[in-house]
Amino acid sequence: MARFPEIRFGSLKIPRSGSLVLASVKGRGLSVLGRALDDRLDRFLTSALVQHNFSSSWGESLSIYVGRLGLKSVTFIGLGDGTEMDSPTGWRDLGGQVYKAISSLKGRQTLLLDHGKRVVGVHEADQLALGIRLGSYDYNIYKSKRRVGFSGKITIGTVSASSSRALESDCESLASGVFLARDLVNAPGIDLGPKEFSDYALSLRDKGCTVKVLDSETLLSMGCGGLLAVGGGSSRPPCMVVVVWKGPGVPTSRRPLLLVGKGIVFDSGGLSIKPSSGMEEMKGDMGGAAAVLGTLDTLSSRRSASYVVGVIALAENLPSSTSYRPGDVIRSASGQTIEVLNTDAEGRVVLADALWYAQEHFAPKTILSLATLTGAIMVALGHHRAGLFTRRKSLVDRLMRSGRISGDLLWPMPLEEAYDRLIDSDIADVKNVGSRYGGAITAAQFLDRFVKVPSYAHLDIAGTAFGGKRSAVSPSWGTGFGVQLLDHFVRAHHE
Ligand code: BES
Ligand code: ZN
Ligand code: ZN
Repeated sequence: MARFPEIRFGSLKIPRSGSLVLASVKGRGLSVLGRALDDRLDRFLTSALVQHNFSSSWGESLSIYVGRLGLKSVTFIGLGDGTEMDSPTGWRDLGGQVYKAISSLKGRQTLLLDHGKRVVGVHEADQLALGIRLGSYDYNIYKSKRRVGFSGKITIGTVSASSSRALESDCESLASGVFLARDLVNAPGIDLGPKEFSDYALSLRDKGCTVKVLDSETLLSMGCGGLLAVGGGSSRPPCMVVVVWKGPGVPTSRRPLLLVGKGIVFDSGGLSIKPSSGMEEMKGDMGGAAAVLGTLDTLSSRRSASYVVGVIALAENLPSSTSYRPGDVIRSASGQTIEVLNTDAEGRVVLADALWYAQEHFAPKTILSLATLTGAIMVALGHHRAGLFTRRKSLVDRLMRSGRISGDLLWPMPLEEAYDRLIDSDIADVKNVGSRYGGAITAAQFLDRFVKVPSYAHLDIAGTAFGGKRSAVSPSWGTGFGVQLLDHFVRAHHE
């Protein structure tokens, strides 16, 4: 699917028409290209910068009308003192700033990005393009009058690109998965039940994925008492979705990376109902499932040479006469019984069945679970980093690194015996809530009881999947958190 704005790479020279974007570092003045242009414009640029007090702070931008030499306008983007560009996501974030600065410009314009004194290599140019693309996301399908963003063409001038090349398809593939995850998280509950979510999953068949939807009858025959109990209060039945991507040339002996996602399409809390304030945010309680599906979209779009399986537990947690109750004891697919003390701690209950399915039907090398699991992780880490729970030192290192590079930041949290004692139940094998404190940890301990493979990590993304501060590369409520992280992780360790 063609996306707008169209992004291309070209050579680094002043365009004869359209508009120009110039990035400038604080205190360094104009770039070589900028100076050459400024000379031809009789110092028009320099005086405009002085006149508007443009200080080149990071994120600052200024568009000025030129109307000479065929140039319509010049937009300046501040790079700060340049240190921002040294961060692993610097070029991508700059791309976001570029999009923000030009988004209100009208018409079809060609924009050439000059980047000051820095040499833009292929990798940097790709990251810039990715940032522009991520910044162009707009969730507007419910607006009667849709906002229009910048729909022209952007040419990124690079020293290396003598012949213009189209935007790397890898970059578009990544954006495609991130956008899918954002769309799913942003979607209102009324329009995205378990069935609708599974339809999105089925659409990945077009990209070569194998997709299976296990309906509630099948879940019953498999003994998935957890997922059925949680979904039992809604007229929209629960289901489990299995999405398999096996890329070209992957040997049959390869063991898959398994991604397990919490897909509560709406979490009212059930009979242990949540307070009404903020309940609307629980349309995003399928952020883990969205990240898993988004990642499979990306991997299949770029035909990654990997073997990755997504298992997604989909249900709606509502109060009704058919809801599960506090005090109920349910039997999970693994055979372990769960005492339900709070129906709002439903994510771990559905994940117990999904984790069991994943291990029973595949021989995973590694399992990663992603879930908007607890409010407690937000108390601990805010919206900035997701909680990373694993006993595997190598997984901590690998995931932390993928987080740093992708910008989907993580922070390690503990898993240990003392916390596990807190979820022992008097009458069942395990209870679904611990004591008052350490809620994110006891939730992770709960999941850990259902995992047998040693290489396992759980990511609590309750604080990062939605609702944080908007940024230039993440301009909507739903963030798509996890897709860039997992794409990098797969690239680095599973291809
Ligand atoms: N989906 C929520 C967690 C959540 C809260 C995600 C806020 C995103 C934003 C989860 O199902 C839940 O309600 N957890 C409870 C657990 C408690 C009852 C032990 C919580 O965190 O309060
Ligand atoms: Zn809940
Ligand atoms: Zn929930």
